[in-house]
Amino acid sequence: RDMYGDRLNSLGRDYSRQEDRDTHLQALELVDREKLTSGPIINGRMQAGINAEDVTNPYWRDDILGHVSEASPEDIDTAIANAGRAQIAWDRKGGHARAHVLRAMADCLEEDLDRLVALLSREAGKTLNDGVAEVREAADFCRYYAMLAERDFGGPEALTGPAGETNKLILHGRGVFACISPWNFPLAIFTGQIAAALAAGNAVVAKPAEQTPLIAAEAVRVFHRCGLDPNLLALLPGKGETVGAKLVSHPGIDGVAFTGGTETAWAINKAIAARPGPILPFIAETGGLNAMFVDTTALREQVIDDVLVSAFGSAGQRCSALRILYVPKDRAQILIDGLKGALDALVVGDPADPATDVGPVIDAESRKILEDHVARLEKEGKVLARGNLPEEAARGDLFAPVIAEIPTPDFLEKEVFGPILHIYRYGPNELKSVTEKLAGRGYGLTLGVHSRIEAFADQVIRLVPAGNVYINRSMTGAVVGVQPFGGEGLSGTGPKAGGPNSLIRYAAEKAISNNI
Ligand code: NAD
Ligand code: ALA
Repeated sequence: RDMYGDRLNSLGRDYSRQEDRDTHLQALELVDREKLTSGPIINGRMQAGINAEDVTNPYWRDDILGHVSEASPEDIDTAIANAGRAQIAWDRKGGHARAHVLRAMADCLEEDLDRLVALLSREAGKTLNDGVAEVREAADFCRYYAMLAERDFGGPEALTGPAGETNKLILHGRGVFACISPWNFPLAIFTGQIAAALAAGNAVVAKPAEQTPLIAAEAVRVFHRCGLDPNLLALLPGKGETVGAKLVSHPGIDGVAFTGGTETAWAINKAIAARPGPILPFIAETGGLNAMFVDTTALREQVIDDVLVSAFGSAGQRCSALRILYVPKDRAQILIDGLKGALDALVVGDPADPATDVGPVIDAESRKILEDHVARLEKEGKVLARGNLPEEAARGDLFAPVIAEIPTPDFLEKEVFGPILHIYRYGPNELKSVTEKLAGRGYGLTLGVHSRIEAFADQVIRLVPAGNVYINRSMTGAVVGVQPFGGEGLSGTGPKAGGPNSLIRYAAEKAISNNI
């Protein structure tokens, strides 16, 4: 609960119950029967757009879910102009009135949970538990930022000063934010960026990832239906190089919130720097080279469980996912044997089936990058084990998870985005050099430590940069308000999502000094 006693974290589903499974099947049937559409949504109305394309299911490519049309340059201009006009009144409403709308958005997401989970599994390949977690996280973002809107935008903050003078600080919205999101959290991150920008008093033009425009359109319809002024939130689907690039260099934009790859963040940063006009805030949350360090005191079964979830959960397609496991040489074999057994038991398959542990990767391009990486591991390292694919795998982009050993501690130069666990066996005096090499890569997103010795955990935390550290537990699945999430260095600018400082860069500050 928040400081006002309102519930902060949303409730879920239990698919071991027949009732919840039946509800899921009904929602899936409805989604499958519909011809889903996405396209530019401006002032609450879907526009014709340009370059219409089919949207398909990553688990089964012949399954055409619907279609999407891209926002035209005129759509972008109109959406930004509308948003700019609507923003002024929204900002003046103040934090309490905005919080009311944000809480209604959270309630609507929860009401539509089963439909959204069905869509998430069809369009983004999310397993049911991942889908539920994503809808809950989206609702959590709305409620948490509603709480911050009331806390930080509820009225001026009185400051101290000399006698005869009053001083106060006011936070207000900056204008129109471009929110650019990735496909791997097509609802939670899409909503989180929008909710943060709205809570701070901005209007939003949102560009979803190319791979997941249907779920984005669904979310925008939900928010408009639950009382958000349609002019405050426009949807502008399309390619990063066209729609995204035009958005970030548009003179009507007052800030950019981006989540995606580090290289895309560099490209956007350059475009913003080259743009004439005001200096824009750029909030960028990107990828990581996430490691877990295990020592000889770690509990074997716990390590195996936590590694499995962290490396292979969500098909390894979380920015927080574990990429490199560092294990002491004399404990490595016993851990590897356990991990191989656990990998063998993972069910790879249809994400809409409650029995599935690992769904597809997002597209054929992603699958090819991962298979090429496995070929490199076979040549330069050693593939220790691979998960099982079902017979129907060739219909879509299922990828069998991999456990591989790397020959050197710095074998990985950058993030490999999928279910591949790299293992390095470190020697008795190697910890310092291994951590230095990892730190030298410049990332800083998540870090895991498994040890019963506090000094070991402290040492690793000191040596390896990371925005989120997890000790003796899995290292994914940050909960809003509980583990504020975000990286440093090549992994992000901050402020963290779902934390007490989340809104500050979405806002402008005005200090008023009055000599009465
Ligand atoms: P991406 O960088 O390819 O795309 C992200 C978004 O940027 C998409 O909407 C894309 O269309 C847009 N884009 C691409 N080029 C652009 C340009 N030139 N100008 C403006 N917009 C442009 O990333 P992705 O493949 O969608 O997502 C996966 C990546 O996101 C991974 O690296 C993952 O680690 C990262 N990620 C980070 C976090 C975090 O919180 N740190 C969370 C989720 C995902
Ligand atoms: N916030 C997401 C996680 O913690 C990315 O896994």
